[in-house]
Amino acid sequence: MEEKRSSFSGKLGFVLAAAGSAVGLGNLWRFPYLAAQHGGGIFILVYIILALTFGFSLLLMEISIGRKTKQSSITAYKKLNKKFGFLGYIAALVPILILPYYCVIGGWVLKYCCTYFTGQGIKAAEETYFGSFISGTSAPMIFFIIFLVLTLLVVLGGVQKGVELASKILMPVLLVIIVGISIYVFTIPGALEGVRYYLLPDFSNFSISTVCAAMGQLFFSMSIAMGIMVSYGSYVKDDISLIGCVNQIEIFDTAVALLSGFIIVPVVFVFSGEAGLATGGAGLMFETLPVVFKDMPFGNVIGAVFFVLVLFAALTSSISIMEAIVSMIMDRFKLKRWVTVLITAGITVVLGLPSALGYGLLGNINPLGMDFLTFFDYLSNSVMMPVVALLTCILVGWVCKTKVIEDEITKNGEKFSRRIIFRIMVKYIAPICLIAILVYYTLAQFGLVKY
Ligand code: PHE
Repeated sequence: MEEKRSSFSGKLGFVLAAAGSAVGLGNLWRFPYLAAQHGGGIFILVYIILALTFGFSLLLMEISIGRKTKQSSITAYKKLNKKFGFLGYIAALVPILILPYYCVIGGWVLKYCCTYFTGQGIKAAEETYFGSFISGTSAPMIFFIIFLVLTLLVVLGGVQKGVELASKILMPVLLVIIVGISIYVFTIPGALEGVRYYLLPDFSNFSISTVCAAMGQLFFSMSIAMGIMVSYGSYVKDDISLIGCVNQIEIFDTAVALLSGFIIVPVVFVFSGEAGLATGGAGLMFETLPVVFKDMPFGNVIGAVFFVLVLFAALTSSISIMEAIVSMIMDRFKLKRWVTVLITAGITVVLGLPSALGYGLLGNINPLGMDFLTFFDYLSNSVMMPVVALLTCILVGWVCKTKVIEDEITKNGEKFSRRIIFRIMVKYIAPICLIAILVYYTLAQFGLVKY
């Protein structure tokens, strides 16, 4: 088995592939609306602190587990310790839960691409446009399925090269466009107030839910706590500096998220004030950006380019999620690739339909008081990922000891300046925080604390 394993061409290939997986709807759609909801600057401060300590340690830990064991997630944990085989299966469940609703949102992005390409950008800026689209029946379903089929085609072909090449060109373009739009946003009268809200932390907005939301976002955005980075790590060559890679992935991922928020948060602030920020929710990107594009010179063209790039970022991520599921099922059940892809797509359609219809036809069914999409998002990010992360920390910190992983990281004689942070994080701080989060969310479910 081991000698057959493929590997990334080099450091750049790995960083790009990992960044392609990491940078997606999480950065462009999820981060801004969470930042808006959870007090702007204070959320960002908490997020950055967590990224540098918690995110860094967890990402490094997962990639190292992969490279050390040379196994994908389903068997990697077992190789570290026989008793932890079950962790591979729990981690495997997370992408299976995420892919369906991710494709539903990907479908929304696709819809907006079509809107702008047919020159109807002005329509998209109407207040009811987004709401009436997602509460429909056939439209959200059809766009969801098309997005899923696009993902499936790439995974079926296994065109790694194509994705890698396209990421190399399109990711920088995305960055330029985002920077361009955020400069424009600055010129909107009143936007500076919004920028201040976005950047300056107001400590009175701080609460436990800020930390919980930031942590869930960190998992989602960096694609950690679901085995994907373990599998990626198993393809990394032995002479590559893992710390260097993790730094680059983190910087890129966080930069895109921050910039995306830079566009969205100030604009919402201008048009609907602080109240609008708190209530915007999942629709924020789809409702506010069209308003900006409407008044912008060449707004329709820029809107079209923007949504295509978002679509692309979403696709590289959904491909990585599907690829993770497919390779796990193939490894485990020894099935052919196309059979596995079809099975995965079937499961995704079944699990995705409730999310696609959750704002219309199925709007009355609210598990735990949430619409289906929010429910799946909650279940994966706030419940399953903390559980996977907690068990991984226990495995590495207490069962096989951090030294095993530290040795993997430094085996090329590399300096590991954040070693102490890493150790304390994995053994104490991360597990305590994760348990606190899980307890907090459970209490919140029963209405015992305010969420
Ligand atoms: N990290 C991706 C994003 O920010 C989403 C993702 C989740 C990708 C899970 C892979 C695995 O959009």
